[in-house]
Amino acid sequence: MIQLSPSILAADFACLGSYMRQADAAGTDMFHVDVMDGMFVPNISFGIPIMESVKKITHTPLDVHLMIVQPERYIREFARTGADVITVHYEACDDLNAAAALIHECGCRAGLSIKPGTDTSVLEPFLDEYDMFLIMTVEPGFGGQKYMNKCTKKITDLRQLLNEHGLSSDIEVDGGITRENIRMVLEAGANVIVMGSSVFKGDIQENIKYYRNVFEEYERGREQ
Ligand code: DX5
Ligand code: ZN
Repeated sequence: MIQLSPSILAADFACLGSYMRQADAAGTDMFHVDVMDGMFVPNISFGIPIMESVKKITHTPLDVHLMIVQPERYIREFARTGADVITVHYEACDDLNAAAALIHECGCRAGLSIKPGTDTSVLEPFLDEYDMFLIMTVEPGFGGQKYMNKCTKKITDLRQLLNEHGLSSDIEVDGGITRENIRMVLEAGANVIVMGSSVFKGDIQENIKYYRNVFEEYERGREQ
């Protein structure tokens, strides 16, 4: 199933509740929560207090993307404050098996992400440990960047690798997804689509409706 996960990083934080309510009204599968520490990435976003506020205004699952060094330190806190999926970075984590185990112990689904410069093959030892794999399609740190075309092959390679292992795990894509490249990333094998600017800039409900139609059309095409 194709899922939409709008990134609240692109919302106006002074009116975050209104932005999220509009997305919920149009129908979203998750909200993507980008946590940045100014160390793993050159930007600081937000942390636990925002999680707590957000959790109060939506029942939609929260898809937490930890762009922080040693994310193991904060897994329990994000789970406690309502994360449903917790994604850590391959490049930021000392013990990926322990991180996956801790995320599961906290009752969440576990995601593992790689930056554009990291080879897809590094994921192979962890295919059974994680439920979702996040292919970054921009350098993590900022919303509104341009999709890196070289990343499309990484999605295709990963879908093939998962197939070879008999796995149908989720592949999430994040960064620079637009009306122009959405069909291409679906075709490549991604099924969880993060979008910041493309959902929250402009008419939120109209944007979501547009992408939902693309998903439906794509799924119908595959059934035939
Ligand atoms: C970048 C973040 C993304 C970002 C996506 O580091 O992980 O989730 O907010 O924003 P857009 O869709 O605007 O590229
Ligand atoms: Zn993200």
